[in-house]
Amino acid sequence: MPLLGVNIDHVATIRQARRAQEPDPVHAAVLAELGGADSITVHLREDRRHIQDRDVRILRDTVRVRLNLEMAVSDEITQFALRTLPDQATLVPERREEVTTEGGLDVITHMQRVSQCVDQLQGAGIVVSLFIDPDVAQVQKSRELGVEAVELHTGAYAEARGQQNIDREFDRLREAGLFALSQGLILNMGHGLTYQNVTRVAQINGVHELNIGHSIVSQAVLVGFERAVRDMKALITA
Ligand code: PXP
Repeated sequence: MPLLGVNIDHVATIRQARRAQEPDPVHAAVLAELGGADSITVHLREDRRHIQDRDVRILRDTVRVRLNLEMAVSDEITQFALRTLPDQATLVPERREEVTTEGGLDVITHMQRVSQCVDQLQGAGIVVSLFIDPDVAQVQKSRELGVEAVELHTGAYAEARGQQNIDREFDRLREAGLFALSQGLILNMGHGLTYQNVTRVAQINGVHELNIGHSIVSQAVLVGFERAVRDMKALITA
């Protein structure tokens, strides 16, 4: 059974929509831990569109489970990581115009930059995971880079339509996962996982952790909405 890493970026997305103080991702992290999260993930993007530096600094002090920082291979964010010292860093590709992380990090093309970044982070005692497509060549290169873990991108599986396509993408995950395990890598998976599509992925042998964000935040908004309206109504009619 895999562990659950909860990505709380979109709590910050709601906050930043109003440049307000609520909802605070720090509060969400506490509740996620109470709900059984095995790690808390945040992505400090270069454009700071959701998570802010302050969030990561406070989370570093308050999160009791592992703190996983998703980050681009960039000098500025690497320096931030070296100051803040998350337990784990997951290197992801990042483009300003994208809505969310699109595709895995191409560790073959960007080997040199990735290697430098990995060395710096590991030198500070941070466990490094690479977010890559479920592709044997990418897994192989990740192993050569000496990282502890890979996170296989489940987006193509999540977005596939039609049983044949879903099965094909699922097989790619399983096969790349098996290869990662055979290379001694910790095997994580994530992106686009939902209450509808997660079960099958959770049953893949050897998966250490699933990282899930958007679907959990979406569920929280809906499951908590009725209660939130009742609480406000009670206050104004008291
Ligand atoms: N893993 C990685 C590397 C990601 O970039 C993201 C999105 O921030 C996730 C997992 C979580 O994806 P989702 O929000 O679709 O669950």
